[in-house]
Amino acid sequence: MNWMEERLSRLQRWEGYQHSVESREAMECKLDANENWHLPSAEIRKALTTSAEHLDPRSYPDVAVIDLAKEVSKEIGVSSESVIPCAGADQAIDLICQAFLGTGDSAVIVSPTFSMYRLRATIAGAECTCVPMLPDFRLPVAEILRRDGPGGVVFICSPNNPTGNQFNRDDVEQVLDSFRGLVVLDEAYVEFASYSLSRRVRNRRNLAVLRTFSKAYGMAALRLGYIVANDEWAPEFLAKVQYPYPVSGVAVAMAIAMMRNPGRIEEWIGKVRNERVWLTRRLRAIPGTLVVDSEANFLMASLPLDSGEAQKRLLAAGVSTRNLGDILGFPNCLRITVGTRRMNLQLLEGLRGIVAK
Ligand SMILES: Cc1ncc(COP(=O)(O)O)c(C=O)c1O
Repeated sequence: MNWMEERLSRLQRWEGYQHSVESREAMECKLDANENWHLPSAEIRKALTTSAEHLDPRSYPDVAVIDLAKEVSKEIGVSSESVIPCAGADQAIDLICQAFLGTGDSAVIVSPTFSMYRLRATIAGAECTCVPMLPDFRLPVAEILRRDGPGGVVFICSPNNPTGNQFNRDDVEQVLDSFRGLVVLDEAYVEFASYSLSRRVRNRRNLAVLRTFSKAYGMAALRLGYIVANDEWAPEFLAKVQYPYPVSGVAVAMAIAMMRNPGRIEEWIGKVRNERVWLTRRLRAIPGTLVVDSEANFLMASLPLDSGEAQKRLLAAGVSTRNLGDILGFPNCLRITVGTRRMNLQLLEGLRGIVAK
């Protein structure tokens, strides 16, 4: 096989990210991608246009990276040198895989979890090992450490997508203490949870925390996130691994405006949390339905019927959810974003109809 054929056959072997394309039919009740529908549409659109107004689109966003890093540094309590702005947490995962993983390296992935870790680590040439979380949803610390070779990267998503649980802090600390490679802690949903370990990068060289503006800040369309890492290596990573102009000036201007309005963000986060409690109770009241306690803006529910069928029938009723199938011994699971009360009522009505049949 010549080089081109070999590369094309490798390209064919890689798996791609599974988009939920059907969801376009259910834009009124789109509960399949963990977006934040609690931010009032008019208000968030106004924040976007105001941010765009002050920008000259002809010039490269020279200072966007520095401006965002400074504001995030105040927001989360780390030095601005620790912040590496990225085009979403997705790009952060990709850059980490490119910079730290190569052929012969290993990526340990606590599963089930967000598919991007395996997809991007595989493209980088690493060998991926999936370590299942414990049946009580705890972090499999001993198993992770058993897989620790001379190095490599371990991916821990907390709160975890799709189960919604946040791992016990001491368990994560134990991995940080003993894992010889890099610990990537994906905190995409951390604003909805109990604690963040972002500040631990101040005295941990082996930790990279991923954060995003796509969830709590309702800015998924603008593709903005960041890595938080020890300032001994973060500036070098930013200068050498990240692109020269990685993030949009509009996205940064809007994110800064949002961070300067913390009361409003807290209010929206509070709404998601309250609605999460309400929806969990209502779902659990549907006979045969189990719901895992969530610390994110979505719920994992195990249904008393085939989840693929349930997902299709919900879609026909105008509600888009994510079919997960069997997860950690829970059969027929769906992942459902915590929507607004209107959306949640539509979901419940659809689901009750399906389960009653
Ligand atoms: C756990 C997790 N990490 C990262 C991402 C990607 O976030 P972003 O929109 O910032 O690329 C997602 C998106 O759903 C996610 O669930």
